Amino acid sequence: MGSVSGMAMYAGERSMVRALRADEQELLARATLGNMNWPGPRYTLDQVMLIPSIAHYFTWWPGPFDFGLVAEDAQGIPVGVVWLRFFTAADPGFGFVDGSIPELCVWVAEGQRGLGTGTRLIAGILEQARSRALPAISLSVETGNPARSLYERLGFVPAGTPFDAGTLVHEL
Ligand SMILES: CC(C)(COP(=O)(O)OP(=O)(O)OC[C@H]1O[C@@H](n2cnc3c(N)ncnc32)[C@H](O)[C@@H]1OP(=O)(O)O)[C@@H](O)C(=O)NCCC(=O)NCCS
Repeated sequence: MGSVSGMAMYAGERSMVRALRADEQELLARATLGNMNWPGPRYTLDQVMLIPSIAHYFTWWPGPFDFGLVAEDAQGIPVGVVWLRFFTAADPGFGFVDGSIPELCVWVAEGQRGLGTGTRLIAGILEQARSRALPAISLSVETGNPARSLYERLGFVPAGTPFDAGTLVHEL
């Protein structure tokens, strides 16, 4: 990885990784829909946009401390995204641990999965979070989602009581 014009750039075999921009809320909405529908169709885009506990993953993006990374194919089309969102106890995400610990969301487009893009995106955001001296990152993964093995491989562990079993954290 190197730094180009202040943006994180990663040369990968199949994609380039750059900073997520403030005008990419629509990409985050699509990614959130894909994440909510990981087992198959459960939600429509309209529902994802109207259910506050889901919509807050992408509405008002970015908050003052939020940041993320986008993987692009050779044509510059986004094929994956990872982003960190800071929530509050008054408006927590599903994987909320503490207001100082942002929650990670990651999504890779269908047809592009299993090629290492998600691994590169998460490794990249962990590196950026470390360089910003964040204490930890959390996330929420539903029972049965094979993404859990990816998170555990990259160092996420159960947050423990009083959090539910799907809340994982990565100390930095
Ligand atoms: C989870 C996800 C972001 C991983 O990105 P990716 O580019 O496929 O991941 P990589 O190729 O780097 O690594 C593959 C790992 O992801 C896991 N995985 C989860 N869903 C997968 C899928 N549909 N296809 C392939 N791998 C998947 C594999 O089990 C594998 O884990 P392992 O290496 O520990 O065995 C992506 O598969 C995805 O967007 N899935 C659908 C939405 C989702 O489940 N999001 C997470 C919500 S918590």
